[in-house]
Amino acid sequence: MARILLTSGPTRQYIDPVRYLTNASSGRMGCSLAEAALAAGHEVVIVSGPVSITYPSQATVHWVDTTDEMLAAAREQFEHCEGLIGVAAPCDYRPEFVLGQKIAKTGQPLVLQLIETPDVVATLGAEKKDRWVVGFALETEDRRFRALTKLEKKSCDLMILNGPEAMNSEGNHVEVLAKDGSVVATLKGSKPEVAVQIMQIVGQRLIQT
Ligand code: C5P
Repeated sequence: MARILLTSGPTRQYIDPVRYLTNASSGRMGCSLAEAALAAGHEVVIVSGPVSITYPSQATVHWVDTTDEMLAAAREQFEHCEGLIGVAAPCDYRPEFVLGQKIAKTGQPLVLQLIETPDVVATLGAEKKDRWVVGFALETEDRRFRALTKLEKKSCDLMILNGPEAMNSEGNHVEVLAKDGSVVATLKGSKPEVAVQIMQIVGQRLIQT
C-alpha cells in the first residue's frame, strides 16, 4: 500500500478580481485515478484546481486556484507520499500583474502581458529522490517524441500520452511510455476503465510491495 499524490483539474490565473484565464480540464481523469488507486488499497491525497466533479470521500483533497498555489500545496504533500501522478492541467502562463480593481472598458485594445508559471511535475520530479513520478502529456503532433521529451525533462518514470479528445470527455485513448522509450501499453476505454489499467501498471512497475 502506498500514499499517492494526485494533481488534478485546471488552475485559474486571475486578471482582475472577477476575471481569470483557465482551460477545459474537468478533473474527471484525476477523479477516476483516485477511485482506481483507492480500490487498489492505496491512500490518496489530491491537490486540485476548481472542478465541479466530486472526488471520492476517502481521498484527502487540498483545493487551490493558481499554478503557484498548486505547486506549493503539492510540494508540501509530496514530502509524505511515495509517488506523484500529475494529471492536472495547470495554466502555463499568468498575467504579469493582477489588477486590484475590475478592468473598465476604454474602447481601446487591451494587451495582457503573460509570463510563465512554474511546472509542478518538473519541480517535484527534480526533487523526487527515491519517489516516483508519472506525468501526462496531451499532444497533437509528433506525439510520442514530444511525450518522451517531456518524460525526460520532467524526470518522470512513466508518461501517459493522450490526445486533445481527452479534454472534458467521458473516454480516453492513451499510450503508457517508459523511460527507455518503450510503449508499455496502449489503453482505450472510459476514463474509469483506463484509470484502473494505469493503476495496475503503476502498481507493477513503481510501487514497492
Ligand atoms: O502542459 P504539458 O503538456 O507540459 O504537461 C505535461 C505534464 O506536466 C502533465 O503531467 C501536467 O500535469 C504537468 N504540468 C505541470 N505544471 C505545469 C504544466 C504541466 O505539472 N505548469
